[in-house]
Amino acid sequence: MRLFLDTANIDEIREIDRWGVLSGVTTNPSLIAKEGGDPEAVWKEILAEVDGDISLETTELEAGPMYEEGLRLAGMAPNAVVKVPMIPAGLEVGKRLTSEGIRTNVTLVFSAAQAILAAEIGAYCVSPFLGRLDDVGADGMKLLHDICEIYAVQGYASNVLAASLRHPMHVVDAALAGADIATMPYDVFTKLVKHPLTDSGLERFLADWRKLQGEQPSMHEDQPSRAEEQAKKAKKQEREAGH
Ligand code: E4P
Repeated sequence: MRLFLDTANIDEIREIDRWGVLSGVTTNPSLIAKEGGDPEAVWKEILAEVDGDISLETTELEAGPMYEEGLRLAGMAPNAVVKVPMIPAGLEVGKRLTSEGIRTNVTLVFSAAQAILAAEIGAYCVSPFLGRLDDVGADGMKLLHDICEIYAVQGYASNVLAASLRHPMHVVDAALAGADIATMPYDVFTKLVKHPLTDSGLERFLADWRKLQGEQPSMHEDQPSRAEEQAKKAKKQEREAGH
C-alpha cells in the first residue's frame, strides 16, 4: 500500500519525504485555502518536490469549464492527477480526461455504488472518505472492505485510495482491507512511527551506553600494561612465599 500525505503544506511534505516512504500527495480546495496565497504556486512547489502522484482538485461544477480546468491542472506536471467530484459532471469529465490519457481521482466517494461508477469511467483512483462516514455514525472501514472486494471480484483496475483517515489504526485496517493507497494528514503520518516501548527502549539503551562510556578508562590515562600487572602479581606471590 502506497502512503500519501493529505496536505498542501510544503514543510510537512518535505519532512515526511525525508523518511523515504512518501509516494504522493493529495490536496483539496480546503487544504489549498489553508495555505493561502496563489494556489498555482502552491501546487507547482508540491509537484516539483515529490516524485509521486499529486492530486489537484477541480472546482468548476459544469462539465465544460471543469474539463478545461482539468486540462490545465494536468498540464502543470507529468505527476499531476486530476481530482473530480463524484457528481454527473465529474464522471463525464473524468471519462473524457481518462480517454485522453490523463489520470483522474474521483473524490468525495461515500458508497460502493459510487465506487463502481468511478471504476467504470476508468478512473486512476477512487477516494472513499472513511473518517467523514464515521463522523456521521456510518462505518467507513466497512465501505472500504466492500469496495476492495468489488474491485477484486470485477477485476477493476482503478486504485482504491483510502481517504479521510484519522488515526494510525485506520491506516493499518486500510492495508488489511487491501487498499492500494492510504492518504493521511501530517499528524497521523507522524503517529505511525511512534510507540512508547520504542521510546523507553531507546532511552534505556542510551543510558546503559553512557554508563559504559563513563566507566571506560580514558585513552590518555596512564594505565599499567598487562605485563606490568603480571610482574607485580608474581612479586607479591614471592614475598608471601618468603614469609
Ligand atoms: C482526500 O483526498 C481528501 O483530501 C481528504 O482525505 C479529506 O479528509 P478530511 O475528511 O480529513 O478532510
